[in-house]
Amino acid sequence: MAVRIERDGAVAVVTMSRPEALNAFNTEQLLALRDAVAEVAADQSIRCAILTGEGRAFAAGADIKEMAEKTPQQGLAFGALGHGIGRAINYAPQPWIAAINGHALGGGCEIALACDIRLASETATLGQPEVGLGILPGWGATQRLTRLAGPGIASELIFTGRRLKAPEALMLGLVNAVYAPGALMDKAREMAATIVANSPTAVAASKRMIALAFDGSLDNGLTREAETFALLFGAADQREGMAAFIEKRPAEFTGERD
Ligand code: CAA
Repeated sequence: MAVRIERDGAVAVVTMSRPEALNAFNTEQLLALRDAVAEVAADQSIRCAILTGEGRAFAAGADIKEMAEKTPQQGLAFGALGHGIGRAINYAPQPWIAAINGHALGGGCEIALACDIRLASETATLGQPEVGLGILPGWGATQRLTRLAGPGIASELIFTGRRLKAPEALMLGLVNAVYAPGALMDKAREMAATIVANSPTAVAASKRMIALAFDGSLDNGLTREAETFALLFGAADQREGMAAFIEKRPAEFTGERD
């Protein structure tokens, strides 16, 4: 089986298992992960999921050998499959913890970015090397990495394709914590146990609200900003503040509107 689910009380450990290819995602592996995520999401007795990889990788990305001959149309379908998994993790009621045990590159890093929390082994490497293959990160990194680490860091990592070791990933905020390889799963289970001791309704509601924090386009934000900016020209404080500057005196604000 390419992806297996093991239950431990209210915690599910989902393991991507194609170690001979460093858990690279061919279509079969993607479909197996899609089904596993759907199975977990539908099971109300599961209150937290941990996603990890078998062997020395979390996942080394989309399968380059499968992608090499794809047409734009096939690329669209392959991209949609990866996006579907990321969205399913985001919409799942349970928190997902990525336990990054080794290489998390390209699509592997993007699946980790779709998880709610990332913990890494000291041996982990993270990166978005896609531009070196003539493509872009197609399973969400242009959006999720930018939201997580900011546009400057995301731009550097995506434009250079540079691979990070775990300590730098921690410093840049890509992962929450770094542990010795033998301790990673214990720490992930410990965090999951803390989460599942809390109200699942409250945790699920919190997950939905955290997602809302980034819901909205830059365009909408700029439109709202322009409207609010204009409205403030209808308030007494704007005239007082600017008059005080011109008259070289301290402003006396009243907070009153005209
Ligand atoms: N696709 C297909 N096969 C892969 C793979 C990938 N992404 N990553 C590793 N493998 C395979 C290798 O071809 C190799 O197979 P063979 O034994 O049949 O040759 C096996 O896994 C072991 O890999 P290596 O021998 O290369 O192992 P290494 O320790 O020397 O290097 C590595 C490890 C640095 C991760 C290296 O394998 C590597 O750079 N892999 C590619 C990483 C990458 O570029 N990922 C991005 C893919 S593009 C993408 O994900 C698009 C997207 O946005 C959705």
